[in-house]
Amino acid sequence: MRNGVFISFEGGDGAGKSTQIALLANVLAERTGRDVVTTREPGGTALGRTLRSALLHGGEVSPRAEALIYAADRAHHVATLIRPALARGAIVLTDRYLDSSVAYQAGGRALPASEVEQLSSWATEGLLPDLTLLLDLPPEVAATRREGPADRMERAGADFHQRTRQAFLDRAAADPGRWVLIDAGQPLAVVAEHVRHAVVERLADSMAAGQEPSVSGRVGRP
Ligand code: TYD
Repeated sequence: MRNGVFISFEGGDGAGKSTQIALLANVLAERTGRDVVTTREPGGTALGRTLRSALLHGGEVSPRAEALIYAADRAHHVATLIRPALARGAIVLTDRYLDSSVAYQAGGRALPASEVEQLSSWATEGLLPDLTLLLDLPPEVAATRREGPADRMERAGADFHQRTRQAFLDRAAADPGRWVLIDAGQPLAVVAEHVRHAVVERLADSMAAGQEPSVSGRVGRP
């Protein structure tokens, strides 16, 4: 049994996920009075930060090793941070989750999608988000937003990033009950409003703690 609410943000590098998570976390903490935990993958735990550094700032990693390391990061993240937070009733916002593995390791690296998904499913004992927000942006636009040197994944090339984008869009279209697609090319405040609206529309019932988030939009689960 869990009492918390689990929301993941997905999309390419540079789509603005971390900014939107910070904005949403403030709104939700203020308006629901609940504990809001923000985290990310890879690197939401101490072990995860070691794995993140190997994945992004080390040498070559073969595709299957890469898939296993992301899954290991996720297994530890879920077991030690996400599940305990959900059990105590927190709202958990994560910057990336299992869908990133399907988009990057299957879509991008061309490993079989069902196997990559199964690996993450095993790693997380089947934990899925209540809601996944896809901040969609063409990779060539995202690349212009990047600051600093590209990491190992960002260096993977234009075709790779086109495939990951398409994989995200396909997954979102296949499961509209869990996903909401948001155009991340809009101004930051407009994206933030779409994010708030999606969260209220889908999750107001499960987030209410005596007081519902007072954000415009239809309230209640579809
Ligand atoms: P992220 O921290 O979102 O990078 P950035 O801040 O540059 O957007 O994610 C790190 C990289 O790891 C990103 O390129 C996506 C990739 N990734 C995968 O390939 N598979 C995964 O399962 C996850 C969680 C991330």
